[in-house]
Amino acid sequence: MSMLLLFFESASSVSEEVDFFFWLMVLLCGTVSTAIAAFLIYSAVRYRRKHENEMGAQTRNYIPAEAAWIIIPFIFFMGMFAWGSKLYFDIERPPDNALSMYAVGKQWMWKIQHPEGQREINELHIPVGRPVKLTMTSEDAIHSFFVPAFRTKQDVLPGRYTTTWFEATKPGKYHLFCAEYCGTKHSGMIGWVYAMPTAEYQRWLTQGAAEGSLSSQGEKFFHQFGCSNCHHFYDQGRCPNLRNLYGHPVQISTGQTMIADESYIRESILEPNAKIVYGFQPNIMPNFTGQLNEEQVLALISYIKALGPQPGTQEPSSSGTASQQYGTQPGIAGPGATSNSDSKVEAR
Ligand code: CUA
Repeated sequence: MSMLLLFFESASSVSEEVDFFFWLMVLLCGTVSTAIAAFLIYSAVRYRRKHENEMGAQTRNYIPAEAAWIIIPFIFFMGMFAWGSKLYFDIERPPDNALSMYAVGKQWMWKIQHPEGQREINELHIPVGRPVKLTMTSEDAIHSFFVPAFRTKQDVLPGRYTTTWFEATKPGKYHLFCAEYCGTKHSGMIGWVYAMPTAEYQRWLTQGAAEGSLSSQGEKFFHQFGCSNCHHFYDQGRCPNLRNLYGHPVQISTGQTMIADESYIRESILEPNAKIVYGFQPNIMPNFTGQLNEEQVLALISYIKALGPQPGTQEPSSSGTASQQYGTQPGIAGPGATSNSDSKVEAR
């Protein structure tokens, strides 16, 4: 029975394959190294020098044997490499239908944000049978989000986003660890993941969330921090229109095209001059580094994500001609700069 302890609890859509791969790797590497060691010992004994004047016999090449011991292990190990790569990509790439959640690591706790507005500390509630994508960052040191039962571990870095995903396959309570030494109380940076059947998870979601959904909190910050003074939704003022931005390509002033993902939006909030959208002027938007904490940034991103295309209009199809429009700097004192009604908030 004690053998069973070698087989750690397995509860995600990838964990069985990871285990199978791991044990096959142990078996393959173990067999090959044992065979080499055994042959080495056998040869050392069998062919040892028996008296001082003994000369080594002439060796003869036996090509088929040499070819076999090169080609056969090569095939096995390349097979493991191919399978391992496939598994790695499966673990790295969240499926498109994954639920988005956010995690912020902080000395010494995990702060979780659900898009519906629930916040948790050192606990994460998820539905069973649905992939969950976590976008994570740190407020201080490097942490690492580790759920052994899911076979998922991802470093969490200050100043940027990393992601991980998992799909729990059975309900239960699973350990959550920080797996990167991050200071005195690193060992106390632990928690639980609760995987719940969908109905129960839906019920759980209905409790709490006093502050409204994450995107509605983001909307509040959008006004509070003066973003709405320049980023209008009904015209292109001095600043790019943020409607329909998330997940779409953006051309920046160097001519490069970026996809407006979480990392791009985060950088554009905290360091607006890092990448200027093509046709817009630098140094118009203030730097928000130090003014917003990571959770506020996540709320703002969630709000921008939730902004669909302009209601009642077709897609901003004028974007095809955007470069001409903005090439002439329409915005500085341009029309529309005051046309929106959000001017009650002071610009920063
Ligand atoms: Cu956080 Cu160790």
